[in-house]
Amino acid sequence: MAMTGVLRPGHAQIRVLDIEEGVKHYGKVLGLIETGRDSQGRVYFKAWDERDHHSVILREADSAGIDFFGFKVSDQATLDKLDRDLQAYGVKTERIPAGELLKTGERVRFEVPSGHLIELYWEKSDYGNDDTYTNPPPWTDDAERGIAPIRLDHCLLYGPDIEKVQDIFVNVLGFYLVEHVIMEDGKSDLAIWLSCSIKAHDIAFVRHPEPGKLHHVSFLLESWEKVLRAADIMSMNRVSIDIGPTRHGITRGTTIYAFDPSGNRFEAFCGGYQCYPDWKPIRWTWDEVGAGIFYHDRKLNERFLTVVS
Ligand SMILES: [Fe+2]
Repeated sequence: MAMTGVLRPGHAQIRVLDIEEGVKHYGKVLGLIETGRDSQGRVYFKAWDERDHHSVILREADSAGIDFFGFKVSDQATLDKLDRDLQAYGVKTERIPAGELLKTGERVRFEVPSGHLIELYWEKSDYGNDDTYTNPPPWTDDAERGIAPIRLDHCLLYGPDIEKVQDIFVNVLGFYLVEHVIMEDGKSDLAIWLSCSIKAHDIAFVRHPEPGKLHHVSFLLESWEKVLRAADIMSMNRVSIDIGPTRHGITRGTTIYAFDPSGNRFEAFCGGYQCYPDWKPIRWTWDEVGAGIFYHDRKLNERFLTVVS
C-alpha cells in the first residue's frame, strides 16, 4: 500500500513523578537513547532503530499519565488538509509552533472525545541510528543495551465515547478498524484496535468512564526470545511486572507488561500479524474477551482492566 496521509505513531509525552528516576528507567532499563533536554526540563528519547530525533518525551509532573500522543504525516499539504478536515468535522484544533518540542516542526493538536490529546506533525530532524546510511551493519551497540526495543509502536488509551473516537480516526484521519471487542449487550464496543498502516494496531482505545487515561505505551521487540529477555531485565532491575510473558489473542502479539517507577504501564512485545485496509475487522465476543487479551490464561486480571495512569 502507498504510505500517505498519517504515516505512523511519532511520539508520546509521558508524565513522570521524578525525572531522574524516569531517565534511569527509560534510558538504562528500557534502553532508549537520550537525545536531548529542553528548557522546560523535558527529556527526549528514541529507540535504537528509529531515525527521527525522539519518540518518547518525559515531563516531570505531580501525576503520572500521558500528555499527548503524536502521529507523523507525510508532508505539509497533508498536515494542512487534515487540520481543515478535522475542523470541518467539528473538532477544534490548535497549532503548536515549530520548536516547542526539540527538533520538531509545527504540530496540529486536538482533543478526541475520549479526553486524549492527539497531535499531527510532519517535520522532525533525522537523528539516525548510529548506522551509516550507506552500507550499514544490521544492528548497533544500542540494540543490546537494556530491553532495547526497535521502536515506539502504539499506545492503548482508556476513556469514554470510543465510537466517536473511532469515527474521527477512520473517517477523518484515514485509519481502519482491525479488531474489536463487543460488550455484554452484544452491540457496543468495549475496545477498538485501529491502524494507519499494515500493523495490527497503531492506536487502541478501551471504553472507560474517566477521560484521558493511559493504559500503556508499547515498544516493539524483534522476537519472542527478546520478550523473555525483557522479562529477565525487568526482574534484574526490580521493575514491577504486571503480566507475562504471554500471548494476546487479539493481534496475536507476544507480550510482557510492566510499570515504570511512576506507575505508567508499558509493554514490550513482538509479532502480531500484518493487515490491510480492505480486511474485514476481527470481532471478539464478550464471553471470549479473556482469551482475546491473554490467550493462555483465557481470563482477565482485575489490575489489567482497572489500573491506568
Ligand atoms: Fe499493546
